[in-house]
Amino acid sequence: MKAYHLNGHAGAGRLVQVDVSKPEPANGEVRIRVEAVSLNYRDLLILDRAGQGELNGRVPLCDGAGVVDAVGSDVVQWQVGDRVAASYFRDWISGPFKASYIASALGSNALDGMLAEYVVLPATALVSVPAHLSAVEAATLPCAGVTAFHGLVARGGMGKGDTLLVQGTGGVALFGLQFAAALGARAIVISSSNEKLARAKALGGSILINYRDTPDWDVALMKATNGAGASHILELGGPGTYDRSLRSVASGGKIVQIGVLTGFGPKPDLARLQWENADIIGVTVGSLEHFAAMNRFLTEHAIHPIVDRIYGFDEVAEAYAHLRTGSHFGKIVIRF
Ligand SMILES: NC(=O)c1ccc[n+]([C@@H]2O[C@H](COP(=O)([O-])OP(=O)(O)OC[C@H]3O[C@@H](n4cnc5c(N)ncnc54)[C@H](OP(=O)(O)O)[C@@H]3O)[C@@H](O)[C@H]2O)c1
Repeated sequence: MKAYHLNGHAGAGRLVQVDVSKPEPANGEVRIRVEAVSLNYRDLLILDRAGQGELNGRVPLCDGAGVVDAVGSDVVQWQVGDRVAASYFRDWISGPFKASYIASALGSNALDGMLAEYVVLPATALVSVPAHLSAVEAATLPCAGVTAFHGLVARGGMGKGDTLLVQGTGGVALFGLQFAAALGARAIVISSSNEKLARAKALGGSILINYRDTPDWDVALMKATNGAGASHILELGGPGTYDRSLRSVASGGKIVQIGVLTGFGPKPDLARLQWENADIIGVTVGSLEHFAAMNRFLTEHAIHPIVDRIYGFDEVAEAYAHLRTGSHFGKIVIRF
């Protein structure tokens, strides 16, 4: 079968297509014929880290969906032909997070990911693909979709009458926007592009701010909400956005701490949290249980993920390059 491996080479050669033998499922395992994978911002960070050689031979990408192709003995919950997606953390099935789950993230330090024609995973690490979604759409869900759902819905309790701020129009942001629209919450979108803001409006965004034209977007947000602020904030930027997020949070609001788009290590002044009785919710993707709950939500609300562009299996370097431009709206997918 064909797969991609990371290596320590410079530039586009850091991702190489290789021919390797098709893996066989052992007891309790399932082999998936992968139909589509999607890219996340974390995959750029991992690609850059691969330059130091520490990820040589690792199959990248956490997001993928496909069809069960073979099952090992003792597997009762899946049959050949079932449509499935892999959960981000192989070992986080349900319940609270444990630090030990980090090592079970697909396509990172310790485990191979989904950028291969066939992948073998434990039967317990998969969810059914909602019937209304194509493989391309399902491949967008495991990281960006689950992160937004876990933070905003499962932990954040977002609902009717709430106001959500999303930063940018990438994968996590647009899932958040779609969830807000489905729940009857008002959505505020900040973006670098007026054209993207117009598209976000069509998805339910009601307060639209261009953060290039209006760097003080927190001031504009407060004005547009008559001083109330946002009850829920998808904090995706990190050091470049955190202070403004703190100044945008409503009384009793929740900042869902997720992203590093402007770098790591924000040093925010947290005093406003206590004045506003607001909370920070820290999120690392989510569990298989969160994924299954999100899939029920997607089905109930007939939500289709927003796919920006679809690349072929031989166009992986182009897909990564497109993600790096930041010009996408929603998710970038590779269809096999
Ligand atoms: N904690 C977790 O478990 C977790 C899970 C998933 C993702 N993340 C993190 O969340 C972030 C988003 O991930 P993603 O995969 O959705 O990324 P993405 O699809 O690559 O999103 C990129 C978009 O973010 C927007 N953006 C960039 N800089 C911005 C800024 N300073 N202010 C506001 N928006 C900005 C831009 O949209 P516009 O062009 O519209 O401005 C850009 O196109 C990343 O930092 C990622 O590492 C964390």
